Amino acid sequence: MVAYTIGNLLREGASILKEAGINSPYLDGQLLLKYISGYSKVDMVIYRDRLVDDKTVEAFFQLIEERKKGKPIQYITGHQEFMSLDFYVHENVLIPRPDTEVLVEKVLELLRDKDNPVIADVCTGTGAIAVSLAYYLPDSFVYASDISHHAVECCSKNIKRHGLESRMKLLQGDLLEPLFEEGLEGKLDALVSNPPYISKKDMESLPTSVRGFEPHLALYGGEDGMEFYDRILEDVCKLLKKGGLLAFEIGWDQGPVLAKHLEDKGIFKDIIIEKDLAGLDRIVYCFLEE
Ligand SMILES: C[S@@+](CC[C@H](N)C(=O)[O-])C[C@H]1O[C@@H](n2cnc3c(N)ncnc32)[C@H](O)[C@@H]1O
Repeated sequence: MVAYTIGNLLREGASILKEAGINSPYLDGQLLLKYISGYSKVDMVIYRDRLVDDKTVEAFFQLIEERKKGKPIQYITGHQEFMSLDFYVHENVLIPRPDTEVLVEKVLELLRDKDNPVIADVCTGTGAIAVSLAYYLPDSFVYASDISHHAVECCSKNIKRHGLESRMKLLQGDLLEPLFEEGLEGKLDALVSNPPYISKKDMESLPTSVRGFEPHLALYGGEDGMEFYDRILEDVCKLLKKGGLLAFEIGWDQGPVLAKHLEDKGIFKDIIIEKDLAGLDRIVYCFLEE
């Protein structure tokens, strides 16, 4: 086998990924090498002339092959950072997106002064939203629920990873059903959700890294992408306290439609659409009338 230094290995890995059209080939190579060898990025610079053992070289090129086929780096390494916290992810669960931090930050801002808020995150996936809220609101209690047992398993690991077992409860089931089964009627200060919201038409134009690798169950939101919001709106008023917060992540073109659906219900006030850092509509939130 060819002898590789850290520097040569990274260069060759990056060149394979670049040729395959991967956007950040050098960075991805570093992440993969870190994953298998434990070298930090700084180590990789300081020790760039150090020889790498054959087993590590072989493992590195195997991972480069996976990445070359478009598999997201997070599914290879099992990690994604969200709200400056490390989350475990696996292939049957959506990778948390930086855009979703807009939703979490808004909910944190709105609940910061509330004593002991009780919150539910439905369609929790890895638990990125629920775990972050519980972590940054130290007197909160957070319910996280999802229909997928893969998501529940993944979220459970993340709850443990951040030591939140005593302030979170994980539920499995269809949308709001597990919350009713838990006896939460009229008990929630906030319900948040980033449900599947991709429309039938938009599913076809998703990039391969998403369509080919991320679970359909986490993406498809029905013909017009609105199915999950509408189903949540049917009964959420029974779960929220008066004045309780309802906050959703949305697709860039769903804000006005969802705001209209909320208005039509006639029981929500202060309906607000906010944008993400790219200037696109990203969240809608409102409050149940007092
Ligand atoms: C867009 S992902 C969001 C994951 C996570 N909240 C996040 O922001 O990273 C949607 C999630 O909804 C879950 N889901 C799909 N249908 C559901 C249903 N009927 N009831 C509850 N969860 C559902 C999927 O399993 C998936 O984890």
